[in-house]
Formats: sequence, C-alpha cells, structure tokens
Amino acid sequence: MPSTTADPRTDGLEGVVMGSTAITMVDGERGRLAYRGFDVSELAGTVPYESVMHLLIFGDPPSADPSPEIDRALRHGRGWPAFVRGVLDALPPDQTPLDALRTVWSALSPSVARYPPTLDEAYPLVALGPTVVAAAAHRRRRTSPPPPRDDLGHVANFLYALTGTEPEPRRVEALETYFVLLADHGMNPSTLALRTVVSARGDLASAFVAAISALKGPLHGGAPREVSAFLDRVRGPERAEAVVREALARGERLPGFGHRIYRVEDPRAVLFHDLARRVAHGSERLEIAEAVERAAVSALSAAHPGRRVYTNVDFYGAIVLETAGLEPDLFTPAFALARTAGWTAHVLEQAGSNRLIHPDLRYDGPIDRGRWPRPPIRPSDRSGATRAR
Ligand code: ACO
Repeated sequence: MPSTTADPRTDGLEGVVMGSTAITMVDGERGRLAYRGFDVSELAGTVPYESVMHLLIFGDPPSADPSPEIDRALRHGRGWPAFVRGVLDALPPDQTPLDALRTVWSALSPSVARYPPTLDEAYPLVALGPTVVAAAAHRRRRTSPPPPRDDLGHVANFLYALTGTEPEPRRVEALETYFVLLADHGMNPSTLALRTVVSARGDLASAFVAAISALKGPLHGGAPREVSAFLDRVRGPERAEAVVREALARGERLPGFGHRIYRVEDPRAVLFHDLARRVAHGSERLEIAEAVERAAVSALSAAHPGRRVYTNVDFYGAIVLETAGLEPDLFTPAFALARTAGWTAHVLEQAGSNRLIHPDLRYDGPIDRGRWPRPPIRPSDRSGATRAR
C-alpha cells in the first residue's frame, strides 16, 4: 500500500482547538486538571463517583453525597434486561469484557438515530456497564455472576459483581479513586470520536460505541494493561534499566509514559503514585514500577531533549487497578466505565451547541493519472462473468 508523508507540525491534530467546553480544564503546561472548576486533587479519595458524575453533567455539586439523582438512576438501571442476557449468550465464550460491553451498547442503540440525546438515554448504558463487564468476566472464567446489589454504590457494586464477595474497603477506595480521576479528560481520541458522532446528529448509544472503540488501542485506554504486562516482563527492580533499554532499542513505546497534552507531570499520575505508595506500600510490584519510572524518564529525556516524557495516568493507575483486585483484561473496561460520566457530559454539551465536526486531510497522492489502463467493461460482460462463476 502506498504511504503518505507525515508532517509533525500539523498531523494528529496536535494543538488544534476544535471548540470550547465548560466541563474539564486540562492545563498541560502547569499540570492542572479540574472538573467544572474543582481541582481533581480536591475530589480524589473524598468525593463519591456518583457526585463527580453529577458535577460533570449538571455543572454544580449535588445537594448531598452521593448525588441522590445519579445514585438513584444508577441503582435502578443495574438489573438485566432479558434481551441483554441473550446478546451476551450469543457472543463467543472468550469475548473480552471490553468487546462485550461495546456489543451490548451497540445492541441498545436505536435503529434510527434519536436526536438530541437525553440524560435518560445515558443512564441505562452507564448503570448497566459494570453488570455487563462483570458478566463477561464470569463467562470467561465459567462462573456465574451474582445478582446486582442495590445497597452498594456504583463502584462497590462493580467489585461485588466481579467477585461475588463483600468488597474490602481498601479495594473500594482504590477503585473509586480510579473512577473519579478517570471520569473525564477534556479532548482526547475517544471523546473526539464520541463528539463526532453526536455532531452528525447520531444517537447517544452510537456515540458511546464510537468512544469505546477509540479507547481500546494501546496508545489510549489499552495502555494500563500494557503497563502491567511490561512490569511482569521486568520481574525485579534490578532488571528495570536493562529491560527499558532493550525495549527502547527495539523501537517500542513504553506504556504509561508520555502524553499529548502534558509537558509536566500528569497530575493524575502524581495522585495515583501517592495512592499506590499507600495501598501497595512495601510491595515488590511498586518497587519494580518505581525502578522502571526512574530508568524510563532518564532514557526518554536523553532520547528526546526537547520533549519531557513523564509517567502518565496509566502507569501508577495500573498499580491501583491491580490493588483493587482487577485482572489486566478488566483495566480498559474499568477505564471505559469510569469515563461514561465524562462521555455523558460531552454528548449533552456537544448537542447543546452543535456544529458538524468535519476536518480535512492534505491530499498528497498522485494527481491526474489519465486513462484507466484497460478497455472499459460493459455491464453485460460483468453479469455474464458472475453467472459463469
Ligand atoms: N515510549 C517511547 N517513546 C516515546 C513515548 C513512550 N511512551 N512517548 C513518546 N515517545 C517518543 C516518540 O516516539 C516520539 O519520538 P520521535 O519524535 O523520535 O518519533 C517523541 O517521544 C514524541 O512523542 P510523540 O509521539 O510526538 O507524542 P504524541 O503526543 O504523539 O504521543 C502518546 C503521545 C501516544 C501517549 C505517547 O507518549 C505514547 O505512545 N505513550 C505510550 C502509550 C501510553 O501510555 N498511552 C496512554 C496515554 S494517556 C491516555 O490516553 C489515557
């Protein structure tokens, strides 16, 4: 296949501003992240996910914690519609939880796009997400998911659905902090995909399907499981430098490092590192991660003097997810479930002041190649050829 030439000054839409938002402020120069004006450091570990979802969607903090409106809607939507169970049963037994969630969201999409999207259309997708991910995980293990519990919050119920046992408070704390810190991040590949669907007056479920599809790749939401696999490869802190060096020599991207927007440390990475120091204190896994961070930051700074490359959200985020008891296959689904709060807010914001998102490409293929190299084929010849086959 012929390839085109990349222009690093413009390609990948780096630095392109395509609209405005009042949801999340991402300041990549100063390393600040704030939801509706509240710094994430103020919210992480102290405010329940339901309240953060409320803040992102409605713009202000709820009247109580957890947000009564969001809490009610998410508890209410946890149960299984019968046809969703049928969709899951029809999937191959080893379907990943991420793909299962995308397929169920797709099945929930209306056949004709409904527009404008409403909050009531988002609630069932968000509420059902943990149930679907947990059911897909159980299917692969050949175990049965427990019925959802409506006495638990959104995040604790997800852990309960995965294990069938009362979730330990330290695991709930780790996963709830993860959900809060991943709830939104302004513009990024999955939110761009989501807003693009809405901009064409597509429906909310289709926008969620586009977003989760964009999230799957290892340069975006697929990164945390790659971090886990990389740390497995390192095996001991003393091997960190050699493994990092070999990976870079092979031209690999180190998962969990670098970010398109942050030129200083990603504030979520700093908060996750602090949390990991608390919840994974003294573990060899944390020692390995810290040794990898030292080796990687030094090697990447030497290789790219003009571009500081630090840990991103996924590096210590992966340690936090491991501490919460999740298997690596559940890392990207957890990211998607957390991000449903932000995706909902972005769908509604895009529809609220919509203009079709339709960027352009610089054409650098051949121009004016003249006539087709063979004589034209008449339609009658083509149908004859089809019959002969
Ligand atoms: N490992 C090795 N080299 C890297 C890394 C990395 N993690 N990150 C950046 N670089 C190098 C690039 O190869 C590039 O080198 P070059 O100029 O010689 O080609 C240079 O640093 C500049 O990086 P860009 O590719 O221009 O940065 P970009 O903004 O396009 O990429 C990205 C950002 C995709 C996140 C990149 O840093 C990366 O691949 N990281 C690893 C995957 C990852 O952790 N993804 C999660 C991101 S956060 C999120 O989505 C939630």
